Amino acid sequence: MTETFDPDWLQLREPADHAARPEALATALREALAGAGSAVIRVTDLGSGTGSNLRYLAPRLPRPQHWRLVDHDAGLLAQALAPCAGVEIERQRCDLASDPAVALAGDEALVTGSALLDLVSREWLQRLLAACSGQGAAVLFALSYDGRMRWSRPHPLDADVEAWVNRHQRSDKGFGPALGPAAAATCAEQLEALGYRVQVAASDWRIGVEQAALGAALIEGWVGAAAAIRPERAGDLQAWGDARAQALAAGTVELTVGHQDVLGWR
Ligand SMILES: C[S@@+](CC[C@H](N)C(=O)[O-])C[C@H]1O[C@@H](n2cnc3c(N)ncnc32)[C@H](O)[C@@H]1O
Repeated sequence: MTETFDPDWLQLREPADHAARPEALATALREALAGAGSAVIRVTDLGSGTGSNLRYLAPRLPRPQHWRLVDHDAGLLAQALAPCAGVEIERQRCDLASDPAVALAGDEALVTGSALLDLVSREWLQRLLAACSGQGAAVLFALSYDGRMRWSRPHPLDADVEAWVNRHQRSDKGFGPALGPAAAATCAEQLEALGYRVQVAASDWRIGVEQAALGAALIEGWVGAAAAIRPERAGDLQAWGDARAQALAAGTVELTVGHQDVLGWR
């Protein structure tokens, strides 16, 4: 079972993703890469989609850069473009599910991904990080959902929805049993065990009335995920989703969605 992602959803989330990312990690990465002393910084972006991670990171890192964008979805890859001068891109269509290392060229200074790690399994991540470590690459995985949905005003079903969505997050997304909310903590732990210096920072989404369309799409996905775990509660879940989406659109509630970014470097 392989996950596909709607380009409209990726476009909708991109402003919230970029606003959420901690500048401190990009600064630490820039310093680590500047110290590496290579002429062209070679980057591989796993599960790149249309290139959101490229659009965020490339302007913040030393140039020239060469990016390999890797995804199994040719339609998403085709939409990616170099975001600024001094950045060259290459697209590679590849299914990463069975072996993460197949996507690495072996000469990357940085292996990165955004909104990917919560889909993968512990074993998959271990194999990827061992390969990165073997070639001395820095690693940055951004925007892994960490299991927190926090509403500024409570609803009686919030805790159940969070628990059921988080259980659904652990189901197989094509890479084996998914890490889901444990992704960032597991990544940090595995990097430390490999001898990396590690920095973790929150990249939470803050969703208010101005991001109500993103909130509505997110809530729709959560209602579906929670109903897959508890089908007998589908009616209650739909009522919860309608109430939450209406309140976001009316500006009477705000939502924080927990994410974490993990940087590892030598
Ligand atoms: C949540 S999206 C994130 C996309 C992009 N990194 C971003 O931040 O907008 C996850 C990405 O992983 C890709 N993906 C999922 N399973 C994959 C697989 N087995 N092999 C390669 N790419 C995969 C999807 O096509 C999608 O582009």
